Amino acid sequence: MTLIKIAPSIVSADLAHLADEVRRCEEAGADYLHIDVMDGQFVPAITIGWPIVDAIRRTTSLVLDIHLMVVEPEKQIARFIDAGGDIINVHVEAATHPHRIVQEVLSRGKKAGICLNPGTPVTALDALLPEIDQVMVMSVNPGASGQSFIEASLPKVAHFRRAIDENGYRAAIELDGGVTVANASGCAAAGADVLVAASAIFNSRATVSDNIAGLREAVAGIRA
Ligand code: DX5
Ligand code: ZN
Repeated sequence: MTLIKIAPSIVSADLAHLADEVRRCEEAGADYLHIDVMDGQFVPAITIGWPIVDAIRRTTSLVLDIHLMVVEPEKQIARFIDAGGDIINVHVEAATHPHRIVQEVLSRGKKAGICLNPGTPVTALDALLPEIDQVMVMSVNPGASGQSFIEASLPKVAHFRRAIDENGYRAAIELDGGVTVANASGCAAAGADVLVAASAIFNSRATVSDNIAGLREAVAGIRA
């Protein structure tokens, strides 16, 4: 039975009470804490930098899944590892030498992930897939939470599922953007291992705990 992991993205959390929000995720059984780092250049928004990751690290033992939406990610890797990141994900579109970044992350004993924008073909990862711990398929264009899920990301997930299973690669498949209770089962069925959700978890409709439980229920038994 494959257990799908749930990774709340704190970009939609109440940042004035971040430690409380992190604790709620932990108590609700979140698997990872997804941290969206935006630099105002790779995407227009600026969100969270390494000092906040450092602060979060001191409040939780959850796996910190760092999503670097930044230009020249090679300049940031060491900082985010030192701050306590566990999985360091960089965009293939932003990295001139993604393979070197993967090597550096692995040599520091951390997990290496590569992210793919909706407009980037799966072939961009052909050479990297055997080397990495995680492939992040973006199901929205990066830059903001609350956007609609792009259906064309599902065939990409299915492609990576096949490639990983057929070749015995270790990479997990993470799907990021627009994930809701309504589409989560389709994401799991296509082959995703980790579902990121911001607005579906942090909202005024229900508690963090109920929203995480709803997502878990939606994927229960899929790919059993
Ligand atoms: C998009 C981020 C996502 C996003 C998720 O740039 O990488 O993690 O904030 O937000 P929702 O789940 O609301 O689409
Ligand atoms: Zn993200």
